[in-house]
Order: sequence, then structure tokens, then C-alpha cells
Amino acid sequence: MYLRWLYYFNRLNFALLKLRLSGRVEFCEGCDISTRDFRYRGSGKIRFGKGAVLERSVFPAVFDAEAGSEIIFGERVWLRGKYCANVFTAFAGARIEIGDDCGFNGAVLAAKNRVMIGKKTLLSWGVSIMDSDLHDLSNSRKARISTVEIGDYCLIGVHATIMPGVKIGSHCIIGANSVVTKDVPDNSIAAGAPARVIGRLDDRDRAS
Ligand SMILES: CC(C)(COP(=O)(O)OP(=O)(O)OC[C@H]1O[C@@H](n2cnc3c(N)ncnc32)[C@H](O)[C@@H]1OP(=O)(O)O)[C@@H](O)C(=O)NCCC(=O)NCCS
Repeated sequence: MYLRWLYYFNRLNFALLKLRLSGRVEFCEGCDISTRDFRYRGSGKIRFGKGAVLERSVFPAVFDAEAGSEIIFGERVWLRGKYCANVFTAFAGARIEIGDDCGFNGAVLAAKNRVMIGKKTLLSWGVSIMDSDLHDLSNSRKARISTVEIGDYCLIGVHATIMPGVKIGSHCIIGANSVVTKDVPDNSIAAGAPARVIGRLDDRDRAS
């Protein structure tokens, strides 16, 4: 009985959330969103593809979408906040694009221009991805802004940081605590600070 009421309560909250954010946030068919954990700020557009899930978790998911920005989640993207919050910040005019079947467990993504992640890529807790330095380095050295791209079927390990301009290929693993400052080719294991390729991998499309 209690579970049934909880189910209807969540359905009602979800319907109210959709109404409140209509025109800015689009939820496609079959999305399962814990409204309690959903935080939206700004006026940018967000789209959750079919079957996207925001789990009822310990930590919330924050979607910070400034004017003219877009945050696009593919189908069946799974957001979990078991150890820390997921935070997606798209600054004015920026775009964050996440492919189908990606999984997040407490990552921070900050885009001034563009951050793109392919399909079936998993991001562990404490991962940070930024496409800009966010602050000027000095009076003469302005903040870099450069697109970050991560391919399909990657695993980004605990507390890894992906720096501006980096392109990580498909079927890659980034080791725990790594700081990735340079491109990583397909089918590589890269680790360390700065990250270096320490091994090669076969494909990960059937890895769990
Ligand atoms: C990167 C990783 C996959 C490497 O595994 P591996 O291929 O078995 O590599 P090894 O453990 O044999 O280590 C190879 C070398 O890389 C070093 N290394 C491994 N992981 C490293 C890391 N995260 N940072 C720095 N160096 C690392 C090892 O010390 C070793 O160095 P050596 O050759 O000088 O002795 C693994 O260490 C890792 O970090 N996994 C990610 C775990 C994770 O975050 N999972 C997500 C949970 S949701």
C-alpha cells in the first residue's frame, strides 16, 4: 500500500516538474526521474532521451544551464549519486552532449563551449571534465576554451580529471586519479598525472 502511494506521489511530482519546466526541460517517453534529486537552474535547454533515469540517491543531480546553452542526454542514460553529486554546468551558449546508455555516479562536467561523450561510457565518482580553465591564468594568458570529446565504451575511473581540449578515443580506460592533459587513442589504458598510455585493450562493447 505504502509503495503504491509512493509511486503515485512520485508520478504526481514528476508531472508537476514537467509542467514547471516545460519549454526548457524535455523528458522523452519512459524517463524515470527522482524529482527529489533533480535540481535545475538557469534558462538553458535540457533534453533527456527515452528511458533516461535519475535514481533516487544520496546526492542530487544539478543541471546548471545558462541562457542559450543545451544539455542533451541520449536514451537510457543513468544518473546515480551514491557517493557524490552529478553536476552539469553549461555556461551561456555551451553544449553538453551525452550518448545513449552512458552511466554517471557523481561526476562534474563544466562546458564553456562543448563537452561530448559517446555511447555506453561510464563515469565513476569524483570525475571532473572541463573544456576551459574557467579563469584567466594571468593578465596576458587568457583562459583556454577547447572542446572535450570522449568516445564510446570508455570507463573513466574514480577521481579522474579530463582537461580542456582532450580527445579520448573509444574503448579506453582512464585510471583512478588520473589527470588527462593530452589525447588518448582508441583502445588504450591511460593513467597517472599527467596520464600516459600504460597499455592497450581490445574492444569493451561487451564488457560490464
Ligand atoms: C588503470 C587501471 C585499469 C590499470 O590496470 P592494469 O592494466 O591492470 O595495470 P597495472 O595495475 O598492471 O599497472 C600498470 C602500471 O600502471 C600503474 N598504474 C595503474 N593504475 C594507475 C593509476 N590509476 N594511476 C597511476 N598509475 C597507475 C601501476 O603502478 C603500474 O606501474 P609500474 O609498471 O611502474 O609498476 C587500474 O589501475 C585503474 O585505475 N582502474 C580504474 C578503477 C576505477 O576507478 N573503477 C571505476 C569504479 S566505478
